[in-house]
Amino acid sequence: MLKHKGTSILETNKFILRPFTCNDTLDMYNNWASDKEVTKYLTWPVHCNISKTNMVISRWEKLYEDNEYYNWAIEDKQSGNAIGSINLMNLDDYNQNCEIGYCIGKRFWNHGIMTEVLHEILYFAFTEVNFQRITARRHINNISSGMLLKKCKFVYEGTLRKILKDNNGFFVDCKYYSILKSEYLIEK
Ligand SMILES: CC(C)(COP(=O)(O)OP(=O)(O)OC[C@H]1O[C@@H](n2cnc3c(N)ncnc32)[C@H](O)[C@@H]1OP(=O)(O)O)[C@@H](O)C(=O)NCCC(=O)NCCS
Repeated sequence: MLKHKGTSILETNKFILRPFTCNDTLDMYNNWASDKEVTKYLTWPVHCNISKTNMVISRWEKLYEDNEYYNWAIEDKQSGNAIGSINLMNLDDYNQNCEIGYCIGKRFWNHGIMTEVLHEILYFAFTEVNFQRITARRHINNISSGMLLKKCKFVYEGTLRKILKDNNGFFVDCKYYSILKSEYLIEK
């Protein structure tokens, strides 16, 4: 059985993972939501103005009342700035699985940040909430995400054709991965 905990505050060496607040609006807009390169392979389009970001975060703030809602801001301990997000979605309570999604601002790419953050979220999701399986999918051309998943020991399961509309409304193929609690604990 799952033991839901909601978006609990977590910590890694360099980051605090915590719920978003409206104070993150400027960071989210500047660091990632307004950048077409960051959203290139995501399902949501770039934010054209900061009120869009403000609206999105206001909606999230209400959702945090639900302890089955998992959506963390990644706060850099040193600067205090929010540099990205990571979330668990498509929760399946009965089968104890869910999907993971993540993004960070471009200037933070390739410094091992998401590897550090993803490990902490996996630890929480497997040992605290008791998920048995976590999936991830990526746009077929999203090489960075594939490298990250490989590094974090996700197993490639196959490609689903035209499974998703991208943020331009085009159907795209996606590669699917998963990691099991048993594998994760052995790895750890
Ligand atoms: C995908 C993303 C989260 C990766 O985050 P990151 O912090 O840069 O990843 P890391 O630095 O932890 O890298 C993990 C591994 O992937 C590799 N990697 C990351 N980006 C890469 C790239 N563009 N090309 C080759 N390797 C890459 C790293 O080298 C590292 O492997 P290594 O340690 O063996 O060298 C980031 O690129 C991003 O936010 N992209 C935009 C949003 C997005 O696409 N989200 C995913 C949707 S499925």
